[in-house]
Amino acid sequence: LSIVMISAECAPIAKAGGLGDFVQGLSHDLIARGETLEVLLPYYDTLPLDRIAGLRVVHPDLRVPFHDHWLTCRVLAGTVDGIDCGFIDPQSEQRFFQRGRIYGETDDPERFAVFACAVLEFILQSGRQPDILHCHDWQTGLIPVLLRERYRARGFPDSRVCYTLHNVGYQGVVDVSILRQVGLDPARLMLPERLLHAGDGRMANLMRGGIVDADVVNTVSPRYAWEIQNTEQGMGLESLLKTHASKFGGVLNGIDESVWDPEIDPLIPAHFGPDRLPRKAANRQALRVRLGLQETEKPILAVVSRLDHQKGVTLILHGIRYALAQGAQVALLGAALDPEIDGQFRRLQQETATNPDCRLELTYDERLAHLIYAGADLILIPSLYEPCGLAQMIAMKYGVVPIVRRVGGLADTVFDANYSTRPFAVRNGYVFDEPTPDGLESAMSRAIDLWRRFPEYFSQLRLNGMRADHSWTRSGQLYRDLYVHLGTCKKSS
Ligand code: ADP
Ligand code: GLC
Repeated sequence: LSIVMISAECAPIAKAGGLGDFVQGLSHDLIARGETLEVLLPYYDTLPLDRIAGLRVVHPDLRVPFHDHWLTCRVLAGTVDGIDCGFIDPQSEQRFFQRGRIYGETDDPERFAVFACAVLEFILQSGRQPDILHCHDWQTGLIPVLLRERYRARGFPDSRVCYTLHNVGYQGVVDVSILRQVGLDPARLMLPERLLHAGDGRMANLMRGGIVDADVVNTVSPRYAWEIQNTEQGMGLESLLKTHASKFGGVLNGIDESVWDPEIDPLIPAHFGPDRLPRKAANRQALRVRLGLQETEKPILAVVSRLDHQKGVTLILHGIRYALAQGAQVALLGAALDPEIDGQFRRLQQETATNPDCRLELTYDERLAHLIYAGADLILIPSLYEPCGLAQMIAMKYGVVPIVRRVGGLADTVFDANYSTRPFAVRNGYVFDEPTPDGLESAMSRAIDLWRRFPEYFSQLRLNGMRADHSWTRSGQLYRDLYVHLGTCKKSS
């Protein structure tokens, strides 16, 4: 198979959250299976160029039709940890991808519309013949639409499109003028069964476009697939997803074990695994030194998260106070785009500044994330919704016991130590339902109590999590099957 991944993120060079991990992990798995794969990304000014091998310009002046004129883009290519990547670099006064960050700009819709057009133009002009275009999230929702409306007629190869929804909390709701800018006809598209955003006739919803026009649509866990079709978690997409139910499903994410494995991780001081768990203690010690936490016999509760409404901000704040009151230490690493949420954590940071059991690092820091997973005992993930969640899977691989809310992929991967219907050998954490302080405390108190009173049982929970298979091997095979199935449908149609 020949696959082109089209995404706003790919770790380690362009990552804001789990989407970056996903694209890296699935790409590694598919390449290991012998597939031909390329990832297309914007050429952000934040890319660490020293991590891109053989970076070169492969197209100096790609002409892209955009808003009644031609926009020139450079296309560069290089290899990142064995993955071939192409980079779109628009030569425009707006400096679309030179903003010092991946997202959060007021003109994000225009930035990613330029990206979508340039990607299709590049594939067409370069003579590539991909079997599969795999698009991710709202930033690439226009691609299936542009293909159907414009590019097929221009001789674009007969590629099938797989569209993956990583988060329906962000649907790309944009002013209708964006459609005109990319040469699409609003009169054809601004219909309830296509891009029209419910409730506002002037707004187009790019994720709706991707869902309608892709050949297959999936999200990143079976449980979230059900939730967004059947509950308010669909955030307005429920009925559209039901209409397209026959081409929609859920595939659970994996983690990339060339990056996330405590046996080989170059970013942690002491390697360990299920057969040498006691060595984890050296990482706990290093974490305490790094964060200035006092040396005690207390368990370390971690939070490693984008600090976003989705992640249960109020519950995280409550959980930190509760953990300290219960005699645990807290290590939080998180960054907030929203100034109000940032302010809430900064206030707690000030409040706890002199507490030797609490450290809040309000930043994005890949290296520190690895050390926290390696050193922590518990991780708190009280999400209001969670399409999959990689943090709990990474944490389990590093012997950290997760405390999670029973939603989305968290429900599919964490099985309660006391109440699960699964065998004891696969129970791996603590789960609660109600997004309230009481709900949270019911799980946190059981976890901290087990750590304190029954350390050998607690170790067993760690081991169960470490031994579970969360690698990409299983899900990589599912995506490959999906691509092959699409190819077969193409032949028979
Ligand atoms: P989401 O994609 O919704 O942010 P996931 O759990 O799928 O949630 O993935 C989060 C990824 O981002 C994990 O690899 C996690 O370690 C990482 N991460 C989140 N916040 C930070 C941070 N402040 N610093 C470093 N890594 C972070
Ligand atoms: C999104 C979701 C997260 C998921 C990740 C990768 O960022 O919030 O739950 O794990 O995408 O699919």
